[in-house]
Amino acid sequence: MEKKRSSFSGKIGFVLAAAGSAVGLGNLWRFPYLAARYGGGIFLLVYLILAVTFGFTLMTAEICLGRKTGLSAIGAFQKLNKKYSFIGYLAALVPIIILPYYSVIGGWVIKYFAAFISGQTQAAAKDGYFEAFIGQTGEPIIWLAVFVLATAVVVFLGVEKGIEKASKALMPLLVLLTVGIAIYSVCLPGAWDGLIYYMKPDLKHFSFTTVVAAMGQLFYSMSLAMGIMITYGSYMKKEVNLEKSVAQIEFFDTGIAFFAGMMIVPAVFVFNGGDGAAINAGPGLMFVTLPKVFDSMPLGTVVGALFFVLVLFAALTSSISLMETIVSIVQDKLHWGRKLSAIVITLFTLAVALPSSLGFGRWSGVQPLGMSFLDFFDFISNSILMPIVAFLTCIFVGFVVKPKTIIDEVKINSSFRREKLFVVMIKYIAPVCLIIILISSILNALGIITI
Ligand code: PHE
Repeated sequence: MEKKRSSFSGKIGFVLAAAGSAVGLGNLWRFPYLAARYGGGIFLLVYLILAVTFGFTLMTAEICLGRKTGLSAIGAFQKLNKKYSFIGYLAALVPIIILPYYSVIGGWVIKYFAAFISGQTQAAAKDGYFEAFIGQTGEPIIWLAVFVLATAVVVFLGVEKGIEKASKALMPLLVLLTVGIAIYSVCLPGAWDGLIYYMKPDLKHFSFTTVVAAMGQLFYSMSLAMGIMITYGSYMKKEVNLEKSVAQIEFFDTGIAFFAGMMIVPAVFVFNGGDGAAINAGPGLMFVTLPKVFDSMPLGTVVGALFFVLVLFAALTSSISLMETIVSIVQDKLHWGRKLSAIVITLFTLAVALPSSLGFGRWSGVQPLGMSFLDFFDFISNSILMPIVAFLTCIFVGFVVKPKTIIDEVKINSSFRREKLFVVMIKYIAPVCLIIILISSILNALGIITI
């Protein structure tokens, strides 16, 4: 069945839609805890350098592949060279792995929203509240189910105008609130040391892990190496300036991550003195630190409730784009109807999400590769699959279809200022770095080396 390919209304439509997928829990939840854990300022610096080199190269390549072929990942690779359609299949695996554990975090966000809206600000700010919550069996699963169902309802009914309109209104609000809370955070007494830790690159904290973590985060946050940007590119009109759009999406996505870090990392120093354990808190960081910030602020209950509802919205726009991608793959490949596909994927997502949720409580004794289930799935997608897909995409563009294919596509309506950088990156630097990163993160996970 040939689907009609709609296209985004204009320049800003494309940028906003791509940014809606890109901006999500990756920016607000994942970036701050990685920045805190992997060296603060040096992580930030490495991330920024990677964003304007790797991020730019891969995003340009993916959007061009989509716009040139007018197809999503599997079809796009297939059309350009049949032998390479497996890259598209591999890319399609990534959202299937991410969506379940993404939904677990989405469930936590709903729980915190519920806590704030019912005025339990002080309770939520207490030490141990978060651990006690995620350690339970039933409650996190209920919230997770609510999140998956909310996502499914939208996908089921079709991602039409409503969501687009709502994101246009709510996204700017999220930006304002994030920047506002960040400013409040850094003004708290004791925040200065944290701000320095977050902003000042200190080589002492640099390690190879910094690069691996920053790279994984980059792919995740910009929705790269999983076919999403290819699909979005296929909706993009030829007259839109591609290079400029890529720059805008990067700017938006990185900007939000930057302020999210500023909102959370200095606050860790304020409330926990910035000791090693607090900085290392990992996935729970946002949920442990922010409630304390809200509790200390006038009208904190209202600000907290508003904040979590906006985070929830950002998370939903991302999870919808994840589920939508999986549904369209299943529809195309298995020829199931949209409704059946959506139902089966919802059930699948719920089932696979269970271990990620239970891994913090009842199943905490089971630790694949020494990680919690959630970290494990995150590791498989971000540290293994995405580098592989990114590597293959580079080889495909660099040596199979040749960079000229992409360059011509960019140049349809604009100059390509970073053309030279693009060619060197995609052919040589990116693939070599990706392989090094991939091998070392596998060896590290297997305990063979420590990075
Ligand atoms: N980029 C999103 C985020 O930062 C996550 C995501 C990945 C969304 C892949 C869609 C597709 O949260």
